Amino acid sequence: MTEPVLSVRDLNVGFRTSRGLAHVVNGISYDVQPGETLAIVGESGSGKSVGTLALLGLLPPGVAKVSGSAVFAGEELIGRSEEKLRPIRGAGIGMVFQDPMTSLNPVLTVGRQIVEAVRAHGPMPKAAARARAEELLAEVGIPDPRSRADAFPHQLSGGMRQRVMIAIALAGDPKVLIADEATTALDVTVQAQIIELIGRLQSEHSTGVIWITHDLGVVAGIADHVLVMYAGRCVEEGSVDELFDRPVHPYTRGLLGSMPLVDDPRPARERDPLSTMPGLPPDPVRLPPGCSFYPRCTIRADERCRTEVPPLVPIAGSSDRHRAATFYAPEGV
Ligand SMILES: Nc1ncnc2c1ncn2[C@@H]1O[C@H](COP(=O)(O)OP(=O)(O)OP(=O)(O)O)[C@@H](O)[C@H]1O
Ligand SMILES: [Mg+2]
Repeated sequence: MTEPVLSVRDLNVGFRTSRGLAHVVNGISYDVQPGETLAIVGESGSGKSVGTLALLGLLPPGVAKVSGSAVFAGEELIGRSEEKLRPIRGAGIGMVFQDPMTSLNPVLTVGRQIVEAVRAHGPMPKAAARARAEELLAEVGIPDPRSRADAFPHQLSGGMRQRVMIAIALAGDPKVLIADEATTALDVTVQAQIIELIGRLQSEHSTGVIWITHDLGVVAGIADHVLVMYAGRCVEEGSVDELFDRPVHPYTRGLLGSMPLVDDPRPARERDPLSTMPGLPPDPVRLPPGCSFYPRCTIRADERCRTEVPPLVPIAGSSDRHRAATFYAPEGV
């Protein structure tokens, strides 16, 4: 196996709140290989965004408490000064943020914003940066990039804005691209185009991609490796095939159970209602002493689950990269 381009180990993020420290990311570890897609999935609030923003020092200083390790191209990111992180943002690790409307500046044309991203990665004359910006717009599939570069964000459709965000993220030719819910707000056709686009750029440049989503349908189509997060912990990880064919953790099984069958031939009104998981994740200020999923678990929640945190361990009969954090892996799955 090749050297990972990004290695995250035991990453923890806490937020100082008036009620105490909120533990929102709790001991996450993963590797990103060049040219591969790692999907991070989990329900809202599970720490997917915060866990990646922490890598780039993008959490509010003084409020966020980050520990652990994240080695990118041989260099430790955690604890690095703002000044030393700046060249890594964009040129090393590009990020497509979750909400394009708040991440794009509404009073600057998109061309200007891409030019700024291009010039942030090295001095370049204005005209050359403008040409590069148009080239990037063309690369992300925006027709007539010369005139579109003069548009303001509100003059573009949601899909176009998302492409602009990708163009900005690609301006520094990053080795890792983090796409945070990059297609969630888009209709399925545009979603498919964006996924196809990132896949093509990824294979051309051998970019490692972290794809953050709660849409398991998307994950099945694009991911190599999947990491399932619950209450800031990784509860299961494995290759996309292992995870879909043989989910072990009750949370993963629940997530897959609540996924609609894409090829269900029945009309929508005749299909079974999606199974949903009753209950809510725990309060991150008062994490329970044992398994965070214990109160919602339908498989076998007992005294041990209530008091001990189950470690992430390899699953018997799977590859050693398929691991789950449960004391009671169901047999014969
Ligand atoms: N600046 C902040 N201060 C305090 N708590 C925060 C802050 N930012 C995020 N959080 C909390 O951290 C937790 C994880 O948030 P995060 O945004 O990573 O979730 P997520 O998994 O990305 O969810 P979604 O799918 O909705 O995007 C949440 O409980 C959130 O309320
Ligand atoms: Mg998020």
